[in-house]
Amino acid sequence: MSDQIDLDEYKQQVADLYSSRSSHYDNGDWHPRIAHRLVEYAQLNQGQQILDIATGTGMVAIEAAQIVGNEGQVVGVDISSGMIKQARRKAKALGLCNIEFQLADAEVLNFPVSTFDYIFCSSALIWMSDLLGALRLWHRFLKPGGIIGFHAFADTAFLGGVVTQKVLEKYDISLLFSKPTGTIEKCHALLQQAGFDEIDIKSEPDGRYISLEKAKGMWSGDGSFPAPGQHPNPSLQLTSKQLAQARVEFDAELEKLQTKQGIWDDSTIFYSFGRKAT
Ligand SMILES: C[S@@+](CC[C@H](N)C(=O)[O-])C[C@H]1O[C@@H](n2cnc3c(N)ncnc32)[C@H](O)[C@@H]1O
Repeated sequence: MSDQIDLDEYKQQVADLYSSRSSHYDNGDWHPRIAHRLVEYAQLNQGQQILDIATGTGMVAIEAAQIVGNEGQVVGVDISSGMIKQARRKAKALGLCNIEFQLADAEVLNFPVSTFDYIFCSSALIWMSDLLGALRLWHRFLKPGGIIGFHAFADTAFLGGVVTQKVLEKYDISLLFSKPTGTIEKCHALLQQAGFDEIDIKSEPDGRYISLEKAKGMWSGDGSFPAPGQHPNPSLQLTSKQLAQARVEFDAELEKLQTKQGIWDDSTIFYSFGRKAT
């Protein structure tokens, strides 16, 4: 099992970002809660073969392994060695023997056709360079009748990203963030174009009120992080003067959103499922 992979510059940046977050990624309740919900919707059975794409610290993979039992098998893949290390540590601590974590790029996987009963991609689809190409590839790995399940986030989700997008549009900078999967219709179309049928998309409103101060810390327009699905980060086209001005406008936009309870940070999720025809 390789502990090193060749990644292009974009994917190496994504891998490094998540490796730097890996030791504290499981803190907080939001990621575990939505990962659990995705598995819950799937209604897995004992003995199934599962692939968890972009497994991170293995939240979905580990829960799936506990359900499918020793007659089943789970493979989790991720490009971040830090995340994979955490996933392996957690599985070992639980004594799980039916789970394997591989350091691998989800867009160049090479599993035999018709291997898995279920493929998950939890909180990670928008990081793929080619969403449709990735879904088509993963479709091949499903057995006939097998199901894919992923999270997509509404294009209203994640306050910092939404307001950053709005401000940067004035500078002709277009950041995708959740836009490619930002509506039920877009998720449906992607699944259909990738060859899935019996598509089922469950929209769950989610979010919380946060303080103005916290919201101001969510500026993501300076290009210091990779932009999902875009490389190089389009924000890097801005001059330092434009950046400084955009940052001021970001704070001003947030101030307009302020209410007595704080500012609404939406995180509406589309739990999206599709079946490979039998
Ligand atoms: C937000 S985390 C989600 C982790 C986990 N699935 C969860 O639900 O907590 C996104 C993950 O996607 C991984 N990732 C991004 N692009 C990837 C790719 N092309 N192949 C495999 N993993 C990828 C990152 O390394 C990171 O661990």
